[in-house]
Amino acid sequence: MTIKKIMVIGAGQMGGGIAQVSAQAGYDTVQYDINMDLVNKGLAVIEKNLSRDVSKGKKSKEDKAAILGRIKPSVKLEDAADCDLVVEAIVENFDIKKQVFSQLDQIAPAHAILASNTSSLPITQIAATTKRPEKVIGMHFMNPVPVMKLVEIIRGLATTDEVYKIIEEASIKMGKTPVWCKDVPGFISNRVLQVMINEALWELYEGVAPAENIDNIMKLGMNHPMGPCELADLIGLDTILSILNVMYDGYGDPKYRPSPLLKQYVQAGWLGRKTGKGIYDYR
Ligand code: CAA
Ligand code: NAD
Repeated sequence: MTIKKIMVIGAGQMGGGIAQVSAQAGYDTVQYDINMDLVNKGLAVIEKNLSRDVSKGKKSKEDKAAILGRIKPSVKLEDAADCDLVVEAIVENFDIKKQVFSQLDQIAPAHAILASNTSSLPITQIAATTKRPEKVIGMHFMNPVPVMKLVEIIRGLATTDEVYKIIEEASIKMGKTPVWCKDVPGFISNRVLQVMINEALWELYEGVAPAENIDNIMKLGMNHPMGPCELADLIGLDTILSILNVMYDGYGDPKYRPSPLLKQYVQAGWLGRKTGKGIYDYR
């Protein structure tokens, strides 16, 4: 099976980035969200990213126009009917993903692969909501998608070697380095990363030091490009809380219990850069 057309579900920070790298790789791309305002918001970010590349001389104006021309906006899941691959990048919530996967399973052609960009949810459990579990896989891009080199590929219990191989090739075509992992809560990336971010949030909760100090220590002392508090605001505090809860439930180990401060920020709607306020203020 050759992938020609890809549908990306969700036009938020991850879905928009995935649509961009998909179109850059030459795939016909459908960018879906629940309403046209959200789709247009996602497309505007892609346009801005491409314009920046043009002004830096990394892309020609013609390249930019061709990439944008390959992205079709959509608010109809039925547009999956002629797609070879669907990549879901909606909110990190199993019940919502379940609804979307069972609908996509009925719409997408029998040969189509259904991938999830989930940060932590079990691929096997998502696959079980469809009648094609062998064609369901985790395709975990990193934020910001156009920049980060990794795609962590997660194989569910039923995922076939053939499906894995196709997703590996598509990831390479999108300019990424694929690295596989078994289907465990949080996979490899977030099992390591979110424990660090959560620990920084516990330090903040205990008043050990302000966020700036925690970030400076990790940036200047460990050469991390961003401190854990800055990174938490980039990822989204709602997403981090969901990931920690999935790992806390999945392993039953108290090392994953979310900092009370994280819960409080999410309750306040302080979700990070995307809402203008998180640990830091961006307004
Ligand atoms: N979209 C597109 N391009 C972007 C971008 C974005 N949101 N942010 C930065 N860039 C580009 C810039 O245009 C610039 O491009 P050029 O090389 O062409 O000039 C390049 O990235 C570097 O950007 P800056 O010079 O502005 O800033 P920087 O050097 O500080 O890098 C960064 C920014 C790449 C985000 C860097 O700080 C970084 O690597 N941070 C860590 C990111 C990280 O850890 N991501 C993983 C998060 S965890 C995850 O994704 C998994 C999960 O499930 C939660
Ligand atoms: P986001 O909040 O920026 O975007 C989510 C988008 O999904 C929104 O545009 C929303 O309208 C849309 N959406 C919500 N419900 C929907 C539905 N039923 N159908 C279609 N669209 C729907 O979130 P994000 O940061 O882009 O995260 C999306 C997914 O990617 C999550 O599973 C998250 O865990 C994962 N992820 C996030 C990061 C990160 O750094 N933020 C990194 C890797 C993976």
